[in-house]
Amino acid sequence: MLRKEQGDLLTRTGPGTPAGTLFRSYWIPALLASELPDNDCPPVRVKLLSERLLAFRDSKGRLGLIDEFCAHRGVSLWFGRNEEDGLRCPYHGWKYDYTGQCIEVPSEPVESGFCKKIKLKSYPLIERGGVLWTYMGPAGQQPPLPEWEFAQVPPGQTFTSKRIQESNWLQAMEGGIDSSHVSFLHRGELNTDPLFRGARANQYNLRDSRPVFEVVESAGGLLIGARREADDGNYYWRITQWVMPSFTMIAPRGNHPVHGHFWIPIDDENCWTWSFDYHPTRALTAEEVKAMRDGKGIHVKYVPGTFRPLANKDNDYLIDREAQKAGRTFSGVEGIAMQDASLQESMGPIVDRTKENLVSTDNGIIMARHRLLRTIKAMMDGKTATPPGVDVEHQRVRSAAVVLPPDKPFIDAAKEALTVRAGTAHASV
Ligand code: FES
Ligand SMILES: [Fe+2]
Repeated sequence: MLRKEQGDLLTRTGPGTPAGTLFRSYWIPALLASELPDNDCPPVRVKLLSERLLAFRDSKGRLGLIDEFCAHRGVSLWFGRNEEDGLRCPYHGWKYDYTGQCIEVPSEPVESGFCKKIKLKSYPLIERGGVLWTYMGPAGQQPPLPEWEFAQVPPGQTFTSKRIQESNWLQAMEGGIDSSHVSFLHRGELNTDPLFRGARANQYNLRDSRPVFEVVESAGGLLIGARREADDGNYYWRITQWVMPSFTMIAPRGNHPVHGHFWIPIDDENCWTWSFDYHPTRALTAEEVKAMRDGKGIHVKYVPGTFRPLANKDNDYLIDREAQKAGRTFSGVEGIAMQDASLQESMGPIVDRTKENLVSTDNGIIMARHRLLRTIKAMMDGKTATPPGVDVEHQRVRSAAVVLPPDKPFIDAAKEALTVRAGTAHASV
């Protein structure tokens, strides 16, 4: 459990908050590149870390992420006209460029230079791996561009989606660290979902629901090893990477694409769950991409025209009690992603961690919280400006699944498998 003040420290990410300052140290995903497909296309509202922003692509293709509201009298620039290298407020015609600089105030004489004095808050926005990334920290401390493997492989080898989750980022992320729930919550999908089924190791997951967790600190976060019984006295290890502040890579299965998540706060009660799937050495097949688009694996079906899942809080996640009773799904909710999201949202927008009763399978969660708190404290005390996970070396890592003899520590035996080796597939079972 956490004390109330510790919980508050980790879950509040608005401007000026300690965890908000942590998130503002990184390049974080803001939009899918497909949301701004063309020059001068309609702008998109983006709320991140409790700040209301607006993203647009100008006539020259330059990307801007600026304050959503006009500096004149606060109209939302979402209504703006995206034209001739800038966004024009439709109320009185003030115009802004992609850096938020006001470039025209039609009511004022040009020679007054008035517009030069007006600049909206803005953040850099760059495209990498089909995702638009932003950095919301102090301009002088901008870190190197992100080098996550899923965003570095050729476009045909990677697929990314995002969905709105109606909970604080931390309880969502904790679900990504806690792989012990797979043997329960997702057991129905291991042998049926097209992006999971057929892996030799699935039987180990289903047979042994008492994984032993070994958690080790890595340079950027944690290595979370979950050990289950395999055949002939060997151990099946699933090794999850958690990289600060909220990046998880799930251990692979067979030759399936490898997946992982980012959890990015929208505000303190909602977050974006980003889900990526990629294969380091081959293109995704048409069937795989179709399955992802159809909401299989870790992806979801949407309310049309939105990033809100079709199964959501308002319709009780379309729970099917028959399927639950018959064991087709363990919780009655369809699909791995919504099985996770439904339970995480059911805890309330910000779960009360003073009431928990943690057990040994929660070790990964305990250590992640500890590392986050330690880092936040060091930043508050001025002892560090660069938290783990900013260095691109911390990003060039992989998850792995391996079978090892019982006397081999996973951390040594799987060392090579845990870093990116371009042109080599993941270590998988
Ligand atoms: S409110 Fe935008 S120009 Fe007046
Ligand atoms: Fe899950």
